[in-house]
Amino acid sequence: MPFSNELKARITDRVNNSETKQSALIPILHEVQDELGHISNESMEEIAITLNLSPACVQNVVTFYTMYFNEPKGKHVIWLCRTLSCALRGAEHVEHYIGDKLNIKTGQTTPDGKITFMEAECLAACGTAPVMLVDDHLHENLTKNKVDSILESLKRG
Ligand code: FES
Repeated sequence: MPFSNELKARITDRVNNSETKQSALIPILHEVQDELGHISNESMEEIAITLNLSPACVQNVVTFYTMYFNEPKGKHVIWLCRTLSCALRGAEHVEHYIGDKLNIKTGQTTPDGKITFMEAECLAACGTAPVMLVDDHLHENLTKNKVDSILESLKRG
């Protein structure tokens, strides 16, 4: 999908406000993902041309950071923490519970395109484990009842 004129203008602003073209890469990746939902190979190539980088360099950054999606994601993204504190407090059970409710595995998106289910590293809320981030909202001390109500609101919304 080609970049819109608005997106091109935001990318130009990012380049103009960066010390070097290369240092604009991360903010530009955010701009592209915010606009298009993910960063396709075509987008990576266009970004590479804009920043005088190789497409492989852009791809390395996209695939290194879990926050970037190189294929379409759901309207909502669930990030379930699987690091130690959450693991000790039942994250694995939460993962199976969510997977069963959505009928998908972590890393997958529901067939209706509404929810992508991902694993996350520590979300810095270890004291209220297990936790998950849903879009930009942190949910703590997860229980089956809490998960039920979160999933219901996502399905409705
Ligand atoms: S281990 Fe899950 S928030 Fe830190």
